Amino acid sequence: MFKELIHRISGIYLSEQKKKLVVARLSRRLRALNLDTFTQYYHYLTENPAGASEIENLINRVTTNKTDFFREVHHFDFLKDEVLPAIISKGEATGNRRVRVWSAGCSTGEEPYSIAIICAEVFKNHRGWDVKILATDLDTEVLQRASHGHYPTQSLIPVPGEYLAKYFVRGMDGYTVSDTLKYMVTFRKLNFMNPSFPMKNPFDIIFCRNVIIYFDQPTKIELMNKFHAHLKPQGLIFIGHSESLMSMKEKFKYIKHTVYQKV
Ligand SMILES: C[S@@+](CC[C@H](N)C(=O)[O-])C[C@H]1O[C@@H](n2cnc3c(N)ncnc32)[C@H](O)[C@@H]1O
Repeated sequence: MFKELIHRISGIYLSEQKKKLVVARLSRRLRALNLDTFTQYYHYLTENPAGASEIENLINRVTTNKTDFFREVHHFDFLKDEVLPAIISKGEATGNRRVRVWSAGCSTGEEPYSIAIICAEVFKNHRGWDVKILATDLDTEVLQRASHGHYPTQSLIPVPGEYLAKYFVRGMDGYTVSDTLKYMVTFRKLNFMNPSFPMKNPFDIIFCRNVIIYFDQPTKIELMNKFHAHLKPQGLIFIGHSESLMSMKEKFKYIKHTVYQKV
C-alpha cells in the first residue's frame, strides 16, 4: 500500500531492493509520531487531517538524492565548449541576450551550481546577458540544504581548483558557494507529478539527470512530454548516464550520448 501511495504522489517506483531501506527510514517517523504499526502510519497519512503535512516527511525519506559537483563531466564540457557559445552567437545576432536553464531534480544543489559556474565562466566576457538557472526538487530537505549552498570539503573534490578559488568561500567546516552563484540560481519546490508546471517562459536547456530511472515508463513519457512543452524550439535536454529517450524519437532528436534536442 505504501508503494502505491508513494508512486501516486511522486511517480517514484519503489523496487523490492529499496523496501528494506525505506522501512528503516520510515520507522523513525513512526517513533516520532508515537505510532506502533505501519498500518497506523498509513491511516495517519491518508485519513488524519495532520497527514497532509506528514506526506512531505514521507516523500523526503523515500527520495534518492545522490549527486555530485560536475557529475558526468562531459555534459559540462559540452555546455561550455559548444552549447553556450552557440547560444551567444545566435543571441548576439538577434539581440535576445537571455538564457534560461532548468535543473529539474536538483537534489542538494551541486548540479545547478555546477551549471552556474560554467555559465559564469562562459559569459564573463559577454556583457548584457541575462542568465538564470531554475533549480527544482520535490524533496524539501534537499532544497533547504541547496539554498544554503554549504558543502563539506570532501564534496568539493570534483571542482577544479581554479573554480574553487573563484566561486566558493572557505569556512571552518567546508565551503559555501559565492554570491555570484547564489544570484544566478533560484530554488523552488516542484513535483513532476503535477499536471502542469507554473513556469511561463520556455527554457533553452533542461537538465533532468538521474531522475527518470526511478519512474516507470508511462510516468517517464508523461514527464518528458511536459519538458518538451517547456523547451524552446531546438532546446536541449540532458539526461542521466543510464537513461535514454530513444523511445521518443518523434519528440527528441539524439544529439550525443544522453543529450537530446527538442524536435
Ligand atoms: C538522484 S537525484 C539526481 C540529482 C541530480 N540531478 C544529479 O544527477 O546529480 C534525483 C532527485 O530527483 C528528485 N525527485 C524524485 N521524484 C521527484 C518528483 N516527482 N518531482 C520532483 N523531483 C523529484 C529527488 O528528490 C532527488 O533529489
